[in-house]
Amino acid sequence: MKQFLALTLTLILAVCLSQCGTGRAVSSSQNNTAGNNGLTGTALDSTKGLKDYFANDFTIGVAVSPRALKTDEASLILKHFGSMTPENAMKMGPIHPRENEYFWRDADSIAAFAKANGLKLRGHTLCWHNQAPRWMFVNEKGDTVSKAVLLQRLKDHITTVVSRYKGTIYAWDVVNEAISDRGDEYLRNSPWYRICGEEFIAKAFEYAHAADPNAILFYNDYNEINPVKREKIYKLVKGLKDAGIPIHGVGLQAHWAINEPSAEELENTLSKFSSLGVQVQITELDISVYNKEHNSRERRAEDTVTAFTAEKQAKQIEMYKRIFSAFEKYKKSISGVTFWNISDRSSWLDNFPVRGRKDYPLLFDRNLQPKQAFWEVVKTAGR
Ligand code: GLA
Repeated sequence: MKQFLALTLTLILAVCLSQCGTGRAVSSSQNNTAGNNGLTGTALDSTKGLKDYFANDFTIGVAVSPRALKTDEASLILKHFGSMTPENAMKMGPIHPRENEYFWRDADSIAAFAKANGLKLRGHTLCWHNQAPRWMFVNEKGDTVSKAVLLQRLKDHITTVVSRYKGTIYAWDVVNEAISDRGDEYLRNSPWYRICGEEFIAKAFEYAHAADPNAILFYNDYNEINPVKREKIYKLVKGLKDAGIPIHGVGLQAHWAINEPSAEELENTLSKFSSLGVQVQITELDISVYNKEHNSRERRAEDTVTAFTAEKQAKQIEMYKRIFSAFEKYKKSISGVTFWNISDRSSWLDNFPVRGRKDYPLLFDRNLQPKQAFWEVVKTAGR
């Protein structure tokens, strides 16, 4: 009898504990949904990911490292994102370290994950002045190569990389950041430009198109909200398109912050690029919780204050609401919105513009939980 009583009590305790556990989980997820955001109808569904809310609007993507795909961030990716961009693995230097040597492992592992899980994959990036291998621009004596040699190297690189991922990568950032940030300069004074002149841009698109005629080809750049730079990006893309170069989209990086873009800058930017008649994608979205600074700099005393305060959170929420409402307005032109990194656990902004200054630019916190900004963003979907 004693034994029976003890068993019964243990069972009751076990049931109670498990229900209390469920109760806590439900109430915390309700807190995240109904409690915090007043969502109605479709919204109260914790099985739904970010990508599902925006399924009728645009693809939601994320920049990844091969390492992240082996951690608990992998299941977050599968739940919330419909597309991936390799953060570094397909850049020219990492993937093509020496003239006769490609390093495929990291890029291949990301491609395999995308394939195995049915995610779309954006390729990034075929021609860029940063993270380009040093050998690309010089001969064995260390002298600068001729235009003919450099274009041949560019062709070999693009043909090899694009062919390898043909059918897996649906869109490529073909040329990255070729426009100058200087008001008085059109194209950036990069080795590409110095050696080849403007032609390397059109050539890169032609090589990519020849290697994979089905890939959607993008020109990608930042500071797109700046009116002067915006005009130059527009001029470049329109010029290529009018000349019959196979360019199909413009990528707006959208490395933004709590204090920019203004509603007006955003509206002007999206309306301008939508008028081009090519796809628009937001390719590298993040909202820094610090005021925007465009150049890296030394650490200052105030940079040690890095808590994610209620004030920073409120400003970030407002900015996320502003930009997603604007994306909704232009959803006919916008085919993708990609976040640059997965969660606040780690972002390139932790080291830019100030090394070691923690930032919180994304929609998931360091424990991979949706932030309040997530629920505010979700509310803009389907508008
Ligand atoms: C640019 C590049 C990205 C990345 C970020 C910083 O936006 O396009 O690949 O390097 O800078 O992480």
